Amino acid sequence: MANKIRRIGVMTSGGDSPGMNAAIRAVVRACAYYNTECVGFYRGFQGMIEGDYEVMNARSVRNIISRGGTILKSARSKEFLTPEGRKKAADNLKKAKVDAMVLIGGDGTFRGGQKLSEEHGILIIGVPGTIDNDIFGTSFTIGYDTALNTVVEAIDKIRDTASSHNRLFFVEVMGRDAGFIALNTGIGAGAEEILIPEEDLGLERLLDSLKRSRRSGKTSSIVVVSEGDKIGKNVFELAEYITNYLPEYDAKVTVLGHIQRGGSPTCFDRVLATRLCVRAVELLLDGQSNLMVGFLNNKIETSSLESALKSKPDFNKDLLRISDILST
Ligand code: F6P
Repeated sequence: MANKIRRIGVMTSGGDSPGMNAAIRAVVRACAYYNTECVGFYRGFQGMIEGDYEVMNARSVRNIISRGGTILKSARSKEFLTPEGRKKAADNLKKAKVDAMVLIGGDGTFRGGQKLSEEHGILIIGVPGTIDNDIFGTSFTIGYDTALNTVVEAIDKIRDTASSHNRLFFVEVMGRDAGFIALNTGIGAGAEEILIPEEDLGLERLLDSLKRSRRSGKTSSIVVVSEGDKIGKNVFELAEYITNYLPEYDAKVTVLGHIQRGGSPTCFDRVLATRLCVRAVELLLDGQSNLMVGFLNNKIETSSLESALKSKPDFNKDLLRISDILST
């Protein structure tokens, strides 16, 4: 391994996700293993701009693998979107003698990393960390699996009260413009309907399906609504609309919100984070840059940061068909 890199930096940026701590731990420990210094930047790009960092060693990351959130904190830095902000960040990296960075986050983080590399020659490897699972080049992002389990557990509880009171519940889940969380938790929790931005099913279809449900003897129903879905954009209005047309339904809304981002990561997310970040450090030590490390077909794979940003991952249409079959 050609080791020209003296110091590697690590940061978490954008929405936090469970498993980010396991990712930081893996970067720090891999650096220690390869006798390379490691520096952690706080609050993502904002910490770079402010020179807010700490030298980390293997002991700095003890007992964090099971913790949700991120010990390095996270932020969405507006200042970094400007060339001046990026220049400040690059100057601070140089002052801190950091040659290369592992950036853990979503597409906004990767876009920022690309700019930093283009404009200031910093070596960058991106590691996908977001609950949304909306990054091309990986089947799973760090935190997605934990979020799915959190949501399914919450919907199971809502199902109990929905069934006790013969109610219809609209459960809004996160995902920004992507419906991965809604689609998979909808199937996993046995929802009657799933609304996702990738497939506009229309209000008529939803009404028909709810009417059919009632006729078939169902007394309660769950509709999982992705926050980015067109007709679910305002889930409270949607519930009101449905109640106007189907007054027999006692409709309630639950917005799950930020509980989806917290909690101890699942074993899957811990292992994923660890594998991706060890590879990220090895790639940097090999002098590689502008890549994202992902998990595809059960293997750790790399793709260009550019491709990760250009395309959106495909959603599995067959899951909608399966959901239809099972909600009869
Ligand atoms: O990208 C993660 C995510 O939780 C999205 O699902 C959601 O749309 C967004 O972040 C919420 O961001 P914030 O915490 O800044 O409100």
